Amino acid sequence: MKHLFDDALTQIKMLHDTNEHIMNFGKFPDTLEWAGLPSFAIPAAKLMSTDTTLSSHEYEPLRDAVISPWQYANWRETYRDTNIGDDFLSRFACYELFGHQGHFHSETMRGFLVYSDANLYYPWHHHPAEELYFIIAGEASFATEGNEAKLLKPGDTVFHESNQPHNMHTHENGVLAYVIWRNEFDTAPVLTDRLNA
Ligand SMILES: [Fe+2]
Repeated sequence: MKHLFDDALTQIKMLHDTNEHIMNFGKFPDTLEWAGLPSFAIPAAKLMSTDTTLSSHEYEPLRDAVISPWQYANWRETYRDTNIGDDFLSRFACYELFGHQGHFHSETMRGFLVYSDANLYYPWHHHPAEELYFIIAGEASFATEGNEAKLLKPGDTVFHESNQPHNMHTHENGVLAYVIWRNEFDTAPVLTDRLNA
């Protein structure tokens, strides 16, 4: 099954090397060693693998490559011990393709695949790391504090500054995004309680 992650990484590297927003955010890591992470299953991963709303246009090979390892991925449970609610926990999914806790080890950048089912609200949250979202498939509205939400589709990107609160809302489609973190990436995201009241 390692070849599934290799294929995902190859597709992600091709995206990195050809998309100027991603290139400007950070160079793709030079050395990425296979970390041999165990799989960890969550219900939302299976949901993603059967989601028919993830249309992707020219990014279909990338979409299929990052979905393929879903049964072997070490799915994260970032919000397990929060008050975010069971509906969110059962329909939102994220795995770290590369990074210090990723399937490939990197100390310079973290790269995640993030999935949300349709009609789901990912509440306000923030983290010290600077972040870039690239939409691979589907669509979602993204908001940052003080700004109106913007609907993003495949090929679109959004940048989040360090500790800038942001949220995400899906509508009739799910969304699959490639999310990169740089700087101060050891601290996990937390819900921005003052905005979620
Ligand atoms: Fe974020």
